Amino acid sequence: MLNILPTLVVASIITTCYGDVQIASKLPLGTLYRWKQIDFEFPNENLRQEAIYNRQFIPSNVIPLGIERWKDRLFISTPRWKKGVPATLSTVPIVSSTASPTLEPYPSWDWQNADNCTGFTSLFRMNIDHCGVMWALDSGQLEPFGDTSNPCPPTLFAINVNTDTVIGRYPIPSEFVLQDSLITNLVVDSRDVLCRDLHVYMADAWRFGLIVFRDEDKAFWRFNHYTFYPHPLLSNYTLHGLNFQWTDGLFGMSLGNVHQGDRLLYYHAMSNDLEFVVKTSVIRDPSRVNNAVSEFELLGQCRGADGQVSAAAVDRNGVMFFNLVSRDSIGCWDTHKPYLIRNLMIVAQNNRTLVLPNDLRIDHEVPQMVWIITNKLPMFLADVIDPNEFNYRVIYLDPVAAVENSICQP
Ligand SMILES: *[C@@H]1O[C@H](CO)[C@@H](O)[C@H](O)[C@H]1NC(C)=O
Ligand SMILES: *[C@@H]1O[C@H](CO)[C@@H](O)[C@H](O)[C@H]1NC(C)=O
Ligand SMILES: *[C@@H]1O[C@H](CO)[C@@H](O)[C@H](O)[C@H]1NC(C)=O
Repeated sequence: MLNILPTLVVASIITTCYGDVQIASKLPLGTLYRWKQIDFEFPNENLRQEAIYNRQFIPSNVIPLGIERWKDRLFISTPRWKKGVPATLSTVPIVSSTASPTLEPYPSWDWQNADNCTGFTSLFRMNIDHCGVMWALDSGQLEPFGDTSNPCPPTLFAINVNTDTVIGRYPIPSEFVLQDSLITNLVVDSRDVLCRDLHVYMADAWRFGLIVFRDEDKAFWRFNHYTFYPHPLLSNYTLHGLNFQWTDGLFGMSLGNVHQGDRLLYYHAMSNDLEFVVKTSVIRDPSRVNNAVSEFELLGQCRGADGQVSAAAVDRNGVMFFNLVSRDSIGCWDTHKPYLIRNLMIVAQNNRTLVLPNDLRIDHEVPQMVWIITNKLPMFLADVIDPNEFNYRVIYLDPVAAVENSICQP
């Protein structure tokens, strides 16, 4: 059921450090699903009641974080940030008779057992390659904001979404995981029709590193760079009256389209308003780990006031979409143009439905669709989520229509 969101009229001008970001007048987006609380499809209602009774399932402690789409299904991660999260990776159909479908643990309940490093511990985000393999990042960590424990190493899983089988499990070697590392995000780079020569780039948000995985020989390496750090003042957020501090560094990463055999990786720290860029030919070369300082470059201008961005992705036409977390907004930028404030635009803004747009992915369909999950994360961490309101949403956006006749249209 596609419930198109009411069209928004946004009149306010948003002031930034260099100028004003323009706001699009029409909004080809909608809410596919929304939940007050997340529920899972247990084998039967008795087991569900038992899990609630045993506090193995505490509905108010479940938050959706990552989103991906493959054909007729969406995949949603629910990290184990609090107690009582019975499953950490699930699927929902893309067409449902309800606006709040229950999440079906994926690929099955068997993979969801905590404290068993052969299964999932706490999945953060996923990225599906064009061959139908979902690369999923498991932090290996429980309750990072509370009684933290690290029962398992951070692990990259590969899951074939055509056959629903886990086909790879690659723990990140301890030499690339620092004390208090939180490896939160990933992006898959595959150019070959058969997805050979595949690399995965992963962001360590708390210890400011970029970890590269090469599928060919399952090798890992790590880059550290000063551009991965957060900005002190931009680590101080006030969102809907709630003040909190997030000192997250490297976070959002997106890949430009292939050009003359190379491809750009755009990246930014979460608590910053700058975008940077590096050639993937540099980071795909492990011999450059200690001699590539000048290869990581600033891209254009800062995004301005409240310019913190979580996830970003680039569509086939070369248009980047990104979540402006402090503005309840989705932004766009045509990567063919300079990264200047006059070339950035807000395609959607809503202080009710876009509160903390967290993950953002673009699928492999024709035409493509942008998928965004919003989850009120700061309110969740501060325990002020109101279970009588809709708190979590799956939003879709048509990337072509969203930028039509605007500065973001290539
Ligand atoms: C993990 O779970 C699998 C499947 O349930 C089981 O075969 C295996 O023995 C478990 N491993 C450990 C270390 O507990
Ligand atoms: C952080 O934000 C709060 C709320 O806006 C403000 O009162 C405080 O002065 C800020 N701290 C710094 C160091 O800027
Ligand atoms: C959302 O924005 C509208 C219009 O600017 C305003 O009237 C309303 O109070 C805002 N709501 C919240 C929750 O910030």
